[in-house]
Amino acid sequence: MMTKYSMVFIATFIFTSCTKQAAIIKTDNNQRISINSNWKFYKYENTFEADSLFYDVRPEIKNTDDTKEADTPAKKAEKLEASKKALKPYILPTANAFIKDKSKHHARPKGNPGKNVPFVQTSFDDSTWETINLPHDWAIKGPFQEGSDAEVGGGMGRLPSNGVAWYRRKIDVNEADKDKSIYLDIDGAMSYAIVWLNGHLVGGWPYGYNSFRLDLTPYINLEGENQLAIRLDNPNHSARWYPGGGIYRNVWLTKTNKIHVAHWGTTITTSNISKESAKINFKVIVENNSELDSDIETITKIYPVNNDGIGTNVATIEKVSTKISAGTSKTINGSVTIENPLLWGPPPTQTPNLYKAITSILLNGVTIDEYETIFGIRDIKLDPNQGILVNDELVKIQGVNEHHDLGAIGAAFNIRAAERKLEILKNMGVNAIRMAHNPPAPELLELTDKMGFLVIDEVFDSWERTKTPHDFHLIFPDWYEADARSMVRRDKNHPSIIIWSYGNEVGEQFTNEEGAAIGKTLSDIVKDEDPSRPTTSAMNWAKSDMAFPVVMDVISFNYQGEGIRQDPIFDTVTDRIKTKSQYEPYHKKFPNKVILSSETASAASSRGVYLFPVTNLMSSPIRDGMGGDSKIKQVSAYELYAVDFGSSADKVFASLDRHPYSAGEFVWTGFDYLGEPTPYYDSRSSYNGIIDLAGFPKDRFYLYQSRWRPDLPMVHILPHWNWPNRVGKLTPVHVFTSGDEVELFLNGTSLGKKKKRAYEYRLRWDDIIYQPGELKAVAYKNGKEWAENSVKTTQDASKLIANADRSNIHADGKDLAYITVQITDENGLVVPTSNNLIEFSIQGPGDIIATDNGDASDLTTFISKKRKAFNGFALVIVRSKPNLSGDIKVIVKSKGLKDGQVIIKSND
Ligand code: GAL
Repeated sequence: MMTKYSMVFIATFIFTSCTKQAAIIKTDNNQRISINSNWKFYKYENTFEADSLFYDVRPEIKNTDDTKEADTPAKKAEKLEASKKALKPYILPTANAFIKDKSKHHARPKGNPGKNVPFVQTSFDDSTWETINLPHDWAIKGPFQEGSDAEVGGGMGRLPSNGVAWYRRKIDVNEADKDKSIYLDIDGAMSYAIVWLNGHLVGGWPYGYNSFRLDLTPYINLEGENQLAIRLDNPNHSARWYPGGGIYRNVWLTKTNKIHVAHWGTTITTSNISKESAKINFKVIVENNSELDSDIETITKIYPVNNDGIGTNVATIEKVSTKISAGTSKTINGSVTIENPLLWGPPPTQTPNLYKAITSILLNGVTIDEYETIFGIRDIKLDPNQGILVNDELVKIQGVNEHHDLGAIGAAFNIRAAERKLEILKNMGVNAIRMAHNPPAPELLELTDKMGFLVIDEVFDSWERTKTPHDFHLIFPDWYEADARSMVRRDKNHPSIIIWSYGNEVGEQFTNEEGAAIGKTLSDIVKDEDPSRPTTSAMNWAKSDMAFPVVMDVISFNYQGEGIRQDPIFDTVTDRIKTKSQYEPYHKKFPNKVILSSETASAASSRGVYLFPVTNLMSSPIRDGMGGDSKIKQVSAYELYAVDFGSSADKVFASLDRHPYSAGEFVWTGFDYLGEPTPYYDSRSSYNGIIDLAGFPKDRFYLYQSRWRPDLPMVHILPHWNWPNRVGKLTPVHVFTSGDEVELFLNGTSLGKKKKRAYEYRLRWDDIIYQPGELKAVAYKNGKEWAENSVKTTQDASKLIANADRSNIHADGKDLAYITVQITDENGLVVPTSNNLIEFSIQGPGDIIATDNGDASDLTTFISKKRKAFNGFALVIVRSKPNLSGDIKVIVKSKGLKDGQVIIKSND
């Protein structure tokens, strides 16, 4: 029998799934047209030369140092008086659709600012401007800014993301669109976007990570040309990572009937889920922008999604007839039960099945609007004593945090680049992603739906208090409600999203009741939009008696589970966070809340760099001579070193295993990302990734794989075995395996068998004296041979080998091939210390768009076709050309080495 307590302890959140705002080109009445191609682009060289069409005044930067540790407490913001000339009052009305209390809606002042600025005018000749396609990140081509007085420092990735720029494009509208509503849908523009059409200011959206819609209808010129002009103003010192700059996501022109499904206007939740049946609860908001009261009908049909599109109709939400008055909108509810539902759930034990709902609006029996919503059927339960149950199966979170950049191609969203990241993560055993610290491109959530990842969707790295002088705190008072609501409204139907986060490590953690009150406001807003999912806000300073966690449904620890700065080395440090493990006090204080670790580790390493001596601790901070070398700006890949407030992977595993009620962890981070290169701020990109910026796994990859894929036979040895200067010297060997025991051999001689003890996750032979040759590891599981692997001392580098991730790509001008180049000896063994300069060239219908090597300290621009390998590896990213099929040949050359090449087929 279930006890009273166990009933209380299991809080159930019934789930939602998702609105993929998929291309709706079904009828002439609802067209979603990509307008990514052929924009004109201009960026002012210096911000002080820019026009005066700014959103608002910003505080002066007094301290340009951006090398602060991530857990430096946020500060109280200074108060600024808005200048009269600012455009803010004209932009604020764009937020109205997301402000619930109508009395707080913003009225647009009279006038049309900017109308005299040539760039907004149709007649302006922009032929000398650069022609670009979206998604576009103006900063990624570089160059990197070097040195301690660089304008954009290491924290933001040393790339010129700051500044003011304009985008112009004509849009195609004609007589046939006379009675339509016409919208501009921008999935993301970094940042402070302000939009004009035909010289009229339409509106804008300051926060660079949210998608937004503007109604162009009142400004459309049906007889002549229609000229869009978009101004972005991306501040420096606005982030603790690389934000990118530009219209970096897709842009759409949406033409609908005046009566249509509202923007993000459907909500689907599922309940009463069993193998036999599930209830689909459906809500649609219909907008009537016409001048007539209208009697309409809505009907929604549901189809399973399969590889070829959709299957046959499995259920229909009954037709509803209703009158909608002119200029108003109406919410229509319905529900239907599906028999034998195909549930959505994370692999490998479940399948991420999806459904599509197609909603039609009929007027006089004729379909006037069609709208598609992708969703999934799944039940999520939160059990404070176990974690998260998906369809009644406990799924421990094996998660990673990811920033939005895509490495060498920057912030400009590309589906294949994102998919490749997810594939690599999946191979490691990842089943969950935390979108740090802002909503991602919509297509990324389509991928997590399809591939079956669990997701925390997050908004805000700062509220009122400031981490960097130009971060979100500047606009928080005006925009918090709109930005919180807009995230949920856009993303609420994605089955992959299981939790909403309304903040990361915000300064308000420290301000007790005052901060907790803001947290409650945000959590309430999120729940008002979506009561079906739990909320959270990540804490890196967590005391169980503070007010801040009370309001959140799920407790999210950043580093609090393992404890922070508990080692003796920090005894004399007084101005930083020090915390013992908080699992126990929190579990006691909040027995009915699930606790998860939204950030763990922040371990650091450089792929293939091994520094000596090696600590004999399980986890160590990084200092020169202790895992770090500030001269070469690299961190040892023995994978025992972490930022001061972090922990090695091993230490986190031990903490999780000691607190089995924890729902699991999100490691900081899966991939290295641009910016925040702690501890070496002269670099361009982070050291925290389990995988480097180029997508090459560091040794840590195998440590996580050994734990997260226990059924995959694997054993991994580190370091490499090319140490001509270490003959006779102590050279520890560490082994990661999904087995439980390993025997290590050096040149055929056994160095003994070792078995993992409780809370041990690697096997260490710390007393090995180096001699060249072969190291071999034989792993056992339950006494039986399980896996075998070896590393060998190589010969000198002799050739280049190139391999593509896919041999066929689409000739659509977007698809990418990722080519790994290895420097090997004549036997094909990667020479792990080779850093030769490589030259890349291409023939056929493709372009080399970027190169990389995963070296955080390499300031060669990403567009360079010459790059040094980093410890044996380099990467070339090739993009297909639109509508040109054929063989793409990539040739790689390096002085003294035999050339390599690879052929990729590009097909229509
Ligand atoms: C965390 C923070 C992350 C990142 C990380 C680096 O405190 O939430 O955004 O800065 O530290 O170690």
